[in-house]
Amino acid sequence: MAGANPFTDELRFDRRVPPCAIVIFGANGDLTKRKLIPSLYRLAFERRLPEGCVIIGNSRTPLSDEDYREKMKAAVKQYLEESPFEEGLWETFARSLYYVPGDLNDVQFYSALKEKLETFEAQTNGNVLYYLSIQPSQYASVAECLGVAGLSQGRGWRRLVIEKPFGRDLNTARELNDRVSKVFPEKEVYRIDHYLGKETVQNVLAFRFANGIFEPLWNRRYVNSVQITAAESIGVEGRGAYYQESGALRDMIQNHLLQVMATIAMEPSAIFEPDAVRDERAKLLRSIRIWKEAEVPQHAVKGQYGPGRVGGNDLAGFRQEPGVAPDAQTDTYAAATFYVDNWRWAGVPFYIRTGKRLARRVTDIAIRFNSAPLSIFNRENDGPRPNLLVIKIQPEEGISLRFQSKQPGGGMRLRPVSMDFNYGSSFGVRTPTAYETLLEDAMAGDATLYTRQDMVDASWRAVEPILNHWNSHKFDLPNYEAGSWGPRESDDMLARNGHHWRLA
Ligand code: BG6
Repeated sequence: MAGANPFTDELRFDRRVPPCAIVIFGANGDLTKRKLIPSLYRLAFERRLPEGCVIIGNSRTPLSDEDYREKMKAAVKQYLEESPFEEGLWETFARSLYYVPGDLNDVQFYSALKEKLETFEAQTNGNVLYYLSIQPSQYASVAECLGVAGLSQGRGWRRLVIEKPFGRDLNTARELNDRVSKVFPEKEVYRIDHYLGKETVQNVLAFRFANGIFEPLWNRRYVNSVQITAAESIGVEGRGAYYQESGALRDMIQNHLLQVMATIAMEPSAIFEPDAVRDERAKLLRSIRIWKEAEVPQHAVKGQYGPGRVGGNDLAGFRQEPGVAPDAQTDTYAAATFYVDNWRWAGVPFYIRTGKRLARRVTDIAIRFNSAPLSIFNRENDGPRPNLLVIKIQPEEGISLRFQSKQPGGGMRLRPVSMDFNYGSSFGVRTPTAYETLLEDAMAGDATLYTRQDMVDASWRAVEPILNHWNSHKFDLPNYEAGSWGPRESDDMLARNGHHWRLA
């Protein structure tokens, strides 16, 4: 099939990334400063940014190219992770950085942008990657304005990268899609979910589908339950106003964590080609059982942090954060049990939890296997301990398999031990950030790690009954202390199935 593949390299290895113009809307925003420009600089540093590429920032603030370069230089110095800042390289990189100020509702801005893009057409072959790092309420109208201004088509390709959230629910996600797809065809729409770009999440596919020994066990016969945890110790970090409207279920589960779950649970695709992989993810998301609203209290838990004390410091509660209403009903913690109604997974619970201001930052996936059928050692004491496979996404990056071992010495005393793989010690190289990977993929036209509308639809459908139930009921919040592991109800949810959260 290699010859039929439109991508130069189906292993996503030696791809030819063509030159293009990258237009960033929201060029003074947090995401641009923290992630986009540092990632592009890093790609340039590693010579992965093709010659001829230009980056054009836009926001309303009037700035010259020089001003913008200075601002971005400060941002790169501040946010570049694990790599040196090189003055010389920055100078070269900065020469391809431009700024076009303007209001996104103003037709004149689009003419100015068009003019600017034309000046680079020879070196970019007319290829343009538009990156929407703006208020979600503006996504559709900017796409439409690009269409009206004749900027959605041209000599080269025109792609649109959209940041999450894609809508606030199924209806608004569809509306957004309808409007965007009138201007950009689906294959040119890149919906970014940065969790899919994380090396450790990509490695789940390698682990599952490039090894012979795990996949035979990867099903309801051997797997007892799966836990996906994305715990953050930070609070809402000045994003109180946004977060109050969003909440943890929308902010993390509908997108990132359901995509992680799909990666863990999907079937292997026949080939490693963008739509083949995405078809499998989409199929999995469509197989998630949809709860009836009345069932939600059994299978989902809403939490919000109150004040707490960590390491001798007092932490404010969510309702005391700037921009947050004193009676906000927002979920800063969300946990849910999902079932995948297909032959592989019938009856296996997938527990997902995420929250702000939890005890520590950790994202991992724990697969708990069924226990040995009976313990021939130590019969009187506890029964056999289940094997546990933990895929560590961050901050630790690796995989650990827990099994029982004989303790040295007389008799037959057992203790759990683990076999560990750690990225750092095995590879000894820096792990690229998700945004580096995803930006490069979009330039290369490889959408494997981007979400498709059918995937977005399916994941909204899975969370919608929970959102509806939560919106139509008043909860007694806050219900967990900053710095703890979340509300007690979350432990109760697992206890009803005879399970418990692994780290609590
Ligand atoms: C973002 C959410 O999408 O992901 C944030 O909006 C969250 O609230 C962040 O903090 C977590 O990403 P990461 O890569 O730090 O786990």
